[in-house]
Amino acid sequence: MDISQLVQPERVHRRIYNDPEIFEQELDKIFSVAWIYVGHASQVSKSGDFFCTNIARQPVVMTRHDDGTIKVLFNRCGHRGAQVLSSETGHAETFRCCYHGWEYATDGTLLAVPQPRGYEESKVRPGDPDYGMASVPRVAEYRGFVFASLSHAGASLQEYLGPIASSIDDMVDRAPDGEIEVAGGIARHLYHGNWKLVFENLCDGLHPNCVHQSSIEAAQQQDDAVYSDGAGEIGVRQMRQNGAPWEFWEDQVGSWAYPFGHSYLGDYHDDAKLVAARNDPSFDDYFKAMEVAKGKERTQEILGVTRWNTNIYPTISFMSQFRQLRVIRPVSVDKTEVLGFCFRLKGAPEKMFHDTVRFANITNAVASPVLTDDLETYARIRRGLTTDGNDWVAMARGLGRDKEGADGGWCAENGLSELHIRNMFAAWSGYMAA
Ligand code: FES
Ligand SMILES: [Fe+2]
Repeated sequence: MDISQLVQPERVHRRIYNDPEIFEQELDKIFSVAWIYVGHASQVSKSGDFFCTNIARQPVVMTRHDDGTIKVLFNRCGHRGAQVLSSETGHAETFRCCYHGWEYATDGTLLAVPQPRGYEESKVRPGDPDYGMASVPRVAEYRGFVFASLSHAGASLQEYLGPIASSIDDMVDRAPDGEIEVAGGIARHLYHGNWKLVFENLCDGLHPNCVHQSSIEAAQQQDDAVYSDGAGEIGVRQMRQNGAPWEFWEDQVGSWAYPFGHSYLGDYHDDAKLVAARNDPSFDDYFKAMEVAKGKERTQEILGVTRWNTNIYPTISFMSQFRQLRVIRPVSVDKTEVLGFCFRLKGAPEKMFHDTVRFANITNAVASPVLTDDLETYARIRRGLTTDGNDWVAMARGLGRDKEGADGGWCAENGLSELHIRNMFAAWSGYMAA
């Protein structure tokens, strides 16, 4: 199979979404090479804390070692290979394998084996790296966001993020104390479709008006007096915003794309009760906390950054306005797991975090009247692409109208462009050809 034939300037072959052989190649050539988001430093705030996840389907664990550094280890015993940690999160002084009790330090060093007699003639000794829990080749952190790569070589994390690091800055700078932390539970779902679909959808400005029509109409019909109960209000307001008119998307919403497949969509919200920069009194306590910490001018500058979802290809999509982050985990060619995390802005009034959780319920939880539409769409794409009617999937909207930006990226004509999809496939082709 000649992979290079599958991506054309305005369309891609459907095999990219439904061929198991291509999926296996993606695990090898993309997920085993790129920087993959592992977790946030606040998930392992104390030494001995751990968070289990996977990279290219391989189980790994992020831990805080007793010297304060964060480690990412393969979650595999040095003895006969059992997965050592089975809980997703937890705290332990040492990690002990369930099978024969080999015990490891929080940096993966083998500490002890029960009944060491019998190993005299072998290399098995505490501290021998061949029998420890091995470290993932490269681990790096940007402002608390921890990434790891299974590849020993390649761009540094800083080079890999490039200008898209400014979206992480946007998320963190909104905290009066300059730090954010993961809080609350994980909104988790599995959808029946290829992993690429969610990245395409999260910066797709054309779809909300169509696919989310039922919740937009329901929200538009809702009487203001009824929904203003706090918890429900944010949901109704957000669903109304999904119905922003085409002119708004075309005149006021942009979309930007960067090397390595990263992109972000400009904000499409004009509701002062949702957007902190618009000076609604409901944000007064937050403004005050920000101004005390950062001064008036810097506060305006920080809150004046209005981005919607940022995709850091190929693992996360996040959004600072409501402090949400989704981790996308490919499971198989037509199965994808998504984990939604909420962040608390340290030093901000608790109301901001309540908004975050309410917003997560509207957009990331499986009972959401919005997310369910998107999941149904992914399932329909999966079924539609099994047909022989047409081998090609279009990504032509805005083609030829993208402009090169001063920061090394590209700027789309407007928020309805498919620039971000073309950009992800440019990165995809580069990875797959390597
Ligand atoms: S497999 Fe872990 S101690 Fe034997
Ligand atoms: Fe959607």
